[in-house]
Amino acid sequence: MTASLEVKNLTKSYQRKGQPPFVAVKDLSFEVRPGEIFGLLGPNGAGKSTTINCLTGFYPPTHGEVLIEGFNIHRDPKKAKQHLGVCSQEDTLDTDFDVLDQMLRYGTFYRMNHFEIVKRARLLLETLGLMEKSNELIENLSGGMRRKLQVARALISNPKVLVLDEPTTGLDPDARRTLWQLLTENRKQGMATLLSTHYMEEAERLCDRIAILFEGKVLDLDSPENLIKKYIGTEIIEEEIRPGVIWKRNPNLEDVFLKLTGKSLSSGDSE
Ligand SMILES: Nc1ncnc2c1ncn2[C@@H]1O[C@H](COP(=O)(O)OP(=O)(O)O)[C@@H](O)[C@H]1O
Ligand SMILES: [Mg+2]
Repeated sequence: MTASLEVKNLTKSYQRKGQPPFVAVKDLSFEVRPGEIFGLLGPNGAGKSTTINCLTGFYPPTHGEVLIEGFNIHRDPKKAKQHLGVCSQEDTLDTDFDVLDQMLRYGTFYRMNHFEIVKRARLLLETLGLMEKSNELIENLSGGMRRKLQVARALISNPKVLVLDEPTTGLDPDARRTLWQLLTENRKQGMATLLSTHYMEEAERLCDRIAILFEGKVLDLDSPENLIKKYIGTEIIEEEIRPGVIWKRNPNLEDVFLKLTGKSLSSGDSE
């Protein structure tokens, strides 16, 4: 099966005044197939957003290339972007428009008729629990609602390739589950999804395959189950969580990350 998203030998260096260039992503290659959810898992500073900003055409890569449905995002951006939905890490909502207009305006970038856009916008707002806010200005939304709206907006065109940079950061557990459900539904319809996260639970539950990213390099790339089996095994782990209280649990991706890097995924910066 041909890949919907192909990242080939992607390297990104940032120029810094009076210092040598800083290589934030080194020789990264992976592909995401139709109907696959692929995770970039790594702590702050690992290079997730740099990768995502290169593959959505926001930054030019220093080396390598990115293909969306076979179109090069830098050489043929118009065609590539017709197949792409993006939710960046930063809040890029337009404060001049209310919730529904935000969706409708975004829809006009794609080759969709007005009726289709309105139908899809309503469906997405309903699914993500934002329907009753549809006439609200962005400034009147909570942080979690803004995040959900950004994801909804990325989905307006029902894209073949969906790219989400830490979509669930700042969402409560209920909202997080709703979003996971939506992404799972989209997977069934054949959408190729790339998401970045530092939540190992999210990566483990949702992603078919994961690239573990650390200091700009992929340490390994496989299904969560295979990664856990390969680095940790299947034996139950006993952990003393409080003095005298032993907790028995299955091994997880946090253990894998710790084994590979000596650091905790949730401990913050890898720099
Ligand atoms: N615009 C930039 N200029 C210079 N360095 C940057 C820039 N953006 C990110 N970096 C550096 O690149 C590294 C990776 O950052 P980033 O891709 O944002 O990681 P993540 O999204 O995994 O937290 C970090 O060391 C960060 O400081
Ligand atoms: Mg980031």
